[in-house]
Amino acid sequence: MSSIPAVKVDHLKKHFKVYKKKPGFMGSIESLWHREYETVKAVDDISFDIEQGEIVGFIGQNGAGKTTTLKVLSGLLYQTSGSVSVLGYNPWKRQAAFQKQFSLVMGQKNQLWWDVPAMETFLLNQTIYEVPEKQFRNTLDALIEILDVKDIINIQVRKLSLGQRMKCELIASLLHNPKVLFLDEPTIGLDVVMQKSLRDFIRQYNKEFGATIILTSHYMDDVKELCERAIMIDRGAKVFDGQLSDLIDKYARNKILSLAFSKPVQKKLLEKYGIVKNWTGSTATMLVPRKEATKRAATMLTDLPIHDLNIEEIPLEAIIREVFGEENRLHL
Ligand SMILES: Nc1ncnc2c1ncn2[C@@H]1O[C@H](COP(=O)(O)OP(=O)(O)OP(=O)(O)O)[C@@H](O)[C@H]1O
Ligand SMILES: [Mg+2]
Repeated sequence: MSSIPAVKVDHLKKHFKVYKKKPGFMGSIESLWHREYETVKAVDDISFDIEQGEIVGFIGQNGAGKTTTLKVLSGLLYQTSGSVSVLGYNPWKRQAAFQKQFSLVMGQKNQLWWDVPAMETFLLNQTIYEVPEKQFRNTLDALIEILDVKDIINIQVRKLSLGQRMKCELIASLLHNPKVLFLDEPTIGLDVVMQKSLRDFIRQYNKEFGATIILTSHYMDDVKELCERAIMIDRGAKVFDGQLSDLIDKYARNKILSLAFSKPVQKKLLEKYGIVKNWTGSTATMLVPRKEATKRAATMLTDLPIHDLNIEEIPLEAIIREVFGEENRLHL
């Protein structure tokens, strides 16, 4: 294995200049003479390296700059400054050798032709990427089997369900066996069962081919189940890069205690042990400091009529909201 990282991003900036129209009719008139522009700093000095074979979760709120970064890495956008390389290539040059080794899959955009069966697009891609017949058939058979789409690849794409279509999109993107895969919200809009089957597939693809994968998703289950490492960005800047478990350690000050009582317990009584978030009398949910969670739970078990008790981590979604949300701070 070579020592160069699969993906290298070095002080990447991508700024967009957007035309700003003044409000109203007079604004439109004035704009004819006097155009004003605004700079959107979609990506503003981000650096990271990704080693071959890693699956990295790329997370952050809407508009953080995730898709923009992936587009620069795919050669669809040229950066304002800084540099990127993928498998040692400069993506912007779009060399054939590079194109054959990576793929960008966007959950919200499709490459399949709508009016013909997916199989037609697969064949087209075989030609574009110059995939030898034998390799094409082998890969296709394997993907069809894993994704369980045998019966649908010959049906007109527009007649397929969202999940079926997404599976075919993945096949179309993977037929040339890319070593680097950028997945931009591949599970968006899918039901829970389909999300899981796609996740299983992504994991298997990574294992089988040692593929490097960057995954963006708003579903934290995707990130939790697939990625050990996460990179979090906020308004174009990197705010965290490391193990997901460290992200939880770093930002979650508390753990959640869920309690069920054998007889009603006053809310006031519970407030001695932590912050009461929900209380019905016979059940309660509380926040207790992480480091003391076990000790507090033990004390409560002796002090109170508890018949069920659970200690849980704060959900990743809530942690991310906590990190970013300026208004709705939960003080986790
Ligand atoms: N072509 C463009 N012209 C102008 N502004 C753009 C363009 N593309 C993206 N932006 C802006 O750049 C910022 C980052 O957008 P981007 O799509 O990268 O966010 P994202 O992290 O992928 O968000 P989401 O989670 O909603 O997909 C946003 O403010 C967006 O409006
Ligand atoms: Mg996006």
